[in-house]
Amino acid sequence: MTENEKKIVKRFHELYYNGPDTSGRIYENTYWMGTSCLKCPLDLWIYQEIMYEVRPDLIIETGTHAGGSALYLAHICDLFGAGHVATIDIDKRPRPAHKRISYIHGSSSDPETVAKAFDSVKKKERVLVILDSDHSEEHVSRELKLLASLVTRGSYLIVEDTNINGHPAYPTFGPGPYEAVQKFIEKNKDFEIDPSREKFLMTFNPRGYLKRIS
Ligand SMILES: C[S@@+](CC[C@H](N)C(=O)[O-])C[C@H]1O[C@@H](n2cnc3c(N)ncnc32)[C@H](O)[C@@H]1O
Repeated sequence: MTENEKKIVKRFHELYYNGPDTSGRIYENTYWMGTSCLKCPLDLWIYQEIMYEVRPDLIIETGTHAGGSALYLAHICDLFGAGHVATIDIDKRPRPAHKRISYIHGSSSDPETVAKAFDSVKKKERVLVILDSDHSEEHVSRELKLLASLVTRGSYLIVEDTNINGHPAYPTFGPGPYEAVQKFIEKNKDFEIDPSREKFLMTFNPRGYLKRIS
């Protein structure tokens, strides 16, 4: 990309993230089958492509919110006829019921809670992990310690919202997922950042698609 193209992408990202004028953040007004889903649809398409390639038996998601992303993942699994979603949140609330979703109540930095999610199905030859809960660097680093080893070779560890803290969104957030990934990837040779997953130019997860290579 030329410098000018990079500027255009950055400006569009900021505009998309914050929303134009005073209309509010677009991702907070995004729904999957009627349920709030705090995602950029360009990333959901990448999820679909990864899932098609990996065919995960188990997807562990941290941070359920309303359940829109879990429902999206379960519906993609429906299209394959395989897969299960275990989604963890500290918050309890009514969420869409689906036979492929287990809602796990607790903190994603608690080993027992994570073990419950991992044990939600027997078959887990291929495991995909998505981190989308508390976005502080400290919490994401704890999640990475607990959950990275559950990802199977060839599959992905997706760290959501690495765009915050000025990458390029929400510059005042403070150290978050991006910074946690930087430290993790320096020490962890089992994973590499897969920039091909950023092909749609704008992603909420820059340097956040980590592929397990060994
Ligand atoms: C960004 S939202 C998740 C969005 C959801 N994945 C989606 O795409 O619609 C973050 C969620 O993380 C949850 N959360 C915050 N701290 C947590 C923790 N320590 N463990 C698990 N969930 C946590 C919040 O309750 C909130 O529902």
